[in-house]
Amino acid sequence: MEFTRPRGTRDFLFDEMEKRKEVEKVLRNTFENYAYREIKTPLFEDLKLFTTKSGEEIVDQLYNFKDKSDREITLRPEITAPVARLYLNELQKVAKPIKLYYFGSCFRYERPQKGRFRQFWQFGCELIGAKSPEGEGEVIALCNDSLNNLNLHSADIHINHLGIIRGLFKHFDISQETQRELMVVIDKGDKELLRNSLKGENPIIENDELNGILLKLIDIVGDKSVLSKIDELLSKYDETQDSLNEFKKLIDDLESFNVKNYTLNLGVARGLDYYTGIVFEVYIPELGAQKQVCGGGSYSLIKIFGGEEISSTGFAFGFDRLMNAIEELNDNNEIKSSVDIYVAPFSNETRSKSYEIAQTLRSEGIKTEIDLSRKKFKKLLNHANNLNVKYVVLVGEDELKNNQVTIKDMESGEQELVKLDEIIDYIKRNIYEY
Ligand code: HAM
Repeated sequence: MEFTRPRGTRDFLFDEMEKRKEVEKVLRNTFENYAYREIKTPLFEDLKLFTTKSGEEIVDQLYNFKDKSDREITLRPEITAPVARLYLNELQKVAKPIKLYYFGSCFRYERPQKGRFRQFWQFGCELIGAKSPEGEGEVIALCNDSLNNLNLHSADIHINHLGIIRGLFKHFDISQETQRELMVVIDKGDKELLRNSLKGENPIIENDELNGILLKLIDIVGDKSVLSKIDELLSKYDETQDSLNEFKKLIDDLESFNVKNYTLNLGVARGLDYYTGIVFEVYIPELGAQKQVCGGGSYSLIKIFGGEEISSTGFAFGFDRLMNAIEELNDNNEIKSSVDIYVAPFSNETRSKSYEIAQTLRSEGIKTEIDLSRKKFKKLLNHANNLNVKYVVLVGEDELKNNQVTIKDMESGEQELVKLDEIIDYIKRNIYEY
């Protein structure tokens, strides 16, 4: 019998894990710089947590099942709804705003392709209880800083305010059902399809005035100079004005937060149903079809789940797509060795002492490997070479009699006799240059 991985999943080998950990570290540092703290939620949740308001698209893509007690369960397709649940369960009394971040895998039953998997990782954050638009301003600044710290300089943050289009829907008295149907089409980003949905044989909305405005509106993409076009288009629709003013204030705040790589894009709709206000998506053009590496915005899930009205905003990076982008765009993809020292016993007689030496090095935080397969001396050095270590500590009988070992610099090939109680000092001095 041959076992293969389930479709849409991957195994990650050593080198790839090394790179993923490096990226994870950069993101953790960046998020913590903005005073976010990490949380973890379960990999599976009650199905209804996601069917309540995450949008049709997500529901079709769920990995759901009944457990042995007949409960409807699903693997999580995303982490915002679990965070809203966690907030209601545990955090309601905590002083606001609350800043939390997460890194974990999500599951969606999608057609696998490059950059689209059935198990994928999200690195994201949620800000609960800040005011708009400064909350969104800082969240977008965090997103922008993360991209800069990963050297992803071609990334472009596309921002919209869904309150504008919702204001129009309100003005024209469009039902929730129709709104949802139209937002799904807009989210697909296919202008031709949208045109057909609005002007074709069976238009989603039968209102020429609204359809005309919508087609013009979602075509507006550019820097802040497009604001005058938006003003012109919407000035007579009062229901859009509060959101439009909030949008303008956000753009002012982004200057203060030093965010420069952004585009106003009135066509950003977001696939999930829970968004209410400012939304954004990040595109890295070099990635082609799966260029969207991040999505986020403001949402009202906590209220939908029965809690108070509390403004919340956040975003999630598609971690696997970030990795693809780094692979594609950054020249410096070299893997550093994960081990610094290899301890090589010359003979069976020096093995016990070698273990002691390795443990002393490890207790000092020096990454150390030791021979555990009784290799012959020549093979030991080959192995150390493959591991790409900086130094080999050769433990020979004669040297041990004088309380010494030989330390070989694998780059220069030079060797030096070092006293047992000076090994740590020698290695730290040479490796970490202190
Ligand atoms: P989302 O846009 O559905 O938003 O997912 C976030 C990111 O996850 C996407 O931009 C994409 O990069 C990545 N992604 C989505 N599906 C896949 C897949 N099948 N394979 C690989 N990567 C994928 C959310 O999930 C929201 N919860 C984000 C958010 C947080 N909004 C507010 N707070």
